[in-house]
Amino acid sequence: MRRDRTETARKVQALLPALRERLGDRVSVATAVLDHHGGGGEGVPISSPPDAVVFPLDNEEVAFIARHCFEAGIPIVPFGTGTSLEAHVTAVHGGLSVDLSRMDRILDVSANSLDCRVQAGVKRLQLNAGVRDLGLFFPIDPGADASLGGMASTRASGTAAVRYGTMRDAVLGLTIVTADGRIVRTGTRARKTAAGLDLTRLFVGSEGVLGIITEIQLRLWGLPETVQAAVCQFSDLSAAVQTVIATLQVGIPVARIELLDAVQMAACIAYSKLEGMQPLPTLFIEFHGGPAAVREQIETLEQIAADAGGRGFEWAQRPEDRSRLWKARHDVTYANLALRPGCRMIGTDACVPIAALVECIGQTLADVAASGLVAPLVGHVGDGNFHLGIVFDPASEDERARAEALAERVAMRAIGFGGTCTGEHGIGLHRMHQLVAEHGEGVDLMRAVKRALDPKGIMNPGKMILETGAT
Ligand code: LAC
Ligand code: ZN
Repeated sequence: MRRDRTETARKVQALLPALRERLGDRVSVATAVLDHHGGGGEGVPISSPPDAVVFPLDNEEVAFIARHCFEAGIPIVPFGTGTSLEAHVTAVHGGLSVDLSRMDRILDVSANSLDCRVQAGVKRLQLNAGVRDLGLFFPIDPGADASLGGMASTRASGTAAVRYGTMRDAVLGLTIVTADGRIVRTGTRARKTAAGLDLTRLFVGSEGVLGIITEIQLRLWGLPETVQAAVCQFSDLSAAVQTVIATLQVGIPVARIELLDAVQMAACIAYSKLEGMQPLPTLFIEFHGGPAAVREQIETLEQIAADAGGRGFEWAQRPEDRSRLWKARHDVTYANLALRPGCRMIGTDACVPIAALVECIGQTLADVAASGLVAPLVGHVGDGNFHLGIVFDPASEDERARAEALAERVAMRAIGFGGTCTGEHGIGLHRMHQLVAEHGEGVDLMRAVKRALDPKGIMNPGKMILETGAT
């Protein structure tokens, strides 16, 4: 849909008095605020600020905003913490950024049913701090301290998906504000349902292009009785990957099993001051369960790793050692950005069937070597998912072009192996053609759903679904 930005800016200007009357000072046109909301998040730098930012506090305020935008034809860009990697929150066509960060209340927690309801702006660390005393936790952990609304919108996962699944599995229901301002509840608190089309799953991963997620009903899990974390280093990367595959094939229910290649380990050792570790291919592993079960899992995995040529397990004995280890893992993006002052990063997100993992990673690393670029590899290899953090100098056109070309080849290779261009980061602005390569005709169906739910094309326009022949 072609949009004239000047015309949009004029419409937003005309709407400001009504917004201010309802939201008071929770409407901003300050340049710094607009710039913050129009960037590329933690991904490739980009700047396309909205014309105004609003900070609603509840469903009714979001519905009020949507109704007015629908009437006037103003683009809406939902915004959580702005930490996504695919420029989901930049305002390609201007309009209104709807910042949900002040909708940050945990509405309800049930220890007996192991679930909770949160507003979209609640962040994952806040949720965990809020439910810990009840003996509960929420395991889904993208690198950033993201909002649950943003995580639902991008169908995020993280290091524990191998055991606990992704946001697809954790979300039981949603409150959605539709493009025309209706407040709709999807799903129930039941663990399963056969009632009609699955609107919850339709909106999980919809990246703001269908409506605004304002509340989320989430599964929670009981804190495991025993948690043990270990590090195992290898001389050879494929031996580390083989260890992961064998672990899954024999059915050890590891809670986390993360691969870092030698370059990534060097970056993490420098950034997170990891003592006693070598810049070698490494697995970070965690076991959850009762003491006897954990002991058995450990013994089996130690044997598998030893058979593959692992150098033995180093244990993170104390809880603070364990936290340091996983903090280092979560901070890889920042470790990569610290490799070269002023550099930026393109994160790839290939996810392939487990059987293709060794081959796909092997080809990818050969590609990295041939490219001459610095690109640490880290992965949720238990899910067949791995990232390159391709570091480049934003001032060098040539380097940026080579980084983009490498990222493109990684995505296409994953699709070629029967996998996906993005396991967890999403499509956003830069992968729209990859979505077509992956799903072909399926994108036509996505487009039909989009048109039905967003007839004026105001919801996060210019993202995810390439528009063809649109007016
Ligand atoms: C991670 C992000 C980049 O795995 O997905 O750290
Ligand atoms: Zn990841």
